[in-house]
Amino acid sequence: MYNLRPLKRRRFHIVRNAIRSISGTRNSVARAAAAIAAAWLCTQSSVAQELVGSVADGQTKAAECAACHGVDGNSITAEWPSIAGQHAAYTVRQLRAYQSGERDDVLMTNFAVDLSEQDMLDLAVYYEAQTIIPGGADPELVSLGESIYRSGISGRGVVACIACHGPSGLGNPLAAYPMLQGQHATYTANTLRAYAAGSRRSDATSNQMMRTITALLLEDELLAVASYVQGLR
Ligand code: HEC
Ligand code: HEC
Repeated sequence: MYNLRPLKRRRFHIVRNAIRSISGTRNSVARAAAAIAAAWLCTQSSVAQELVGSVADGQTKAAECAACHGVDGNSITAEWPSIAGQHAAYTVRQLRAYQSGERDDVLMTNFAVDLSEQDMLDLAVYYEAQTIIPGGADPELVSLGESIYRSGISGRGVVACIACHGPSGLGNPLAAYPMLQGQHATYTANTLRAYAAGSRRSDATSNQMMRTITALLLEDELLAVASYVQGLR
């Protein structure tokens, strides 16, 4: 269901080619054989390729994640991200990024490396089904944070965050823009610094957009926008 489009496309080609070969032949035995082959391919490919996440299985598997991310995906420590309500496709992509080394973290990487595709999907749909607990913004930082989030910094080419992450930080699951709403400001500031330093490289498929933007932000701006994000609801 998630991130499996290339496989689905391949199945489509296999089935289409089989159907072409059926209609291309006049021999009825060959036609029947080809039809059976096409039907077999359909069942085989749907067993092997149509992975679907299960919330119930995800809940069971999430037991080992709860120490840091909370039972319902709301972490109690500001350095550890809340992952409740996050888009499943984004979560799967991040878990793969820890496996590939595009992200690396002394606490997190070890928990990602052994997960199968099915584990990642189950965990991702479980967390997507949870609800983020809203946070608040620092009143001292809110006006700078809001201005960067909503309007960017025109003189320096900082694109407005709202363009991709949306007015209330819900992101866009179709475009793989993560939800930011309610995220701990400490984690957000750390992850923005990690992009700026180039140590987080999971934005490779989105034009390195986050690395480009964060490299333009000063420390006080980064802190202000992180605080604003925590207060989004
Ligand atoms: C020992 C603590 C710990 C455990 C246990 C743990 N994580 Fe994490 N997780 C973290 C930390 C810390 C980060 C942020 C690391 C970084 O900055 O890249 C993180 C990041 C993540 C992210 C990326 C979040 C984002 O917004 O990009 C996901 C997804 C995630 N963890 C899922 C899981 C899952 C699923 C499990 C269980 C299989 C798990 N974690 C277990 C500490 C933990
Ligand atoms: C052009 C679209 C775009 C714009 C503009 C943009 N982002 Fe992003 N952002 C993304 C994408 C795509 C990702 C996921 C990248 C990845 O997988 O690492 C992301 C990831 C993030 C993350 C990581 C979320 C997590 O849970 O770890 C944070 C934080 C973030 N953006 C904050 C911001 C802020 C703050 C701004 C404005 C200064 C901004 N973004 C502007 C597209 C955008």
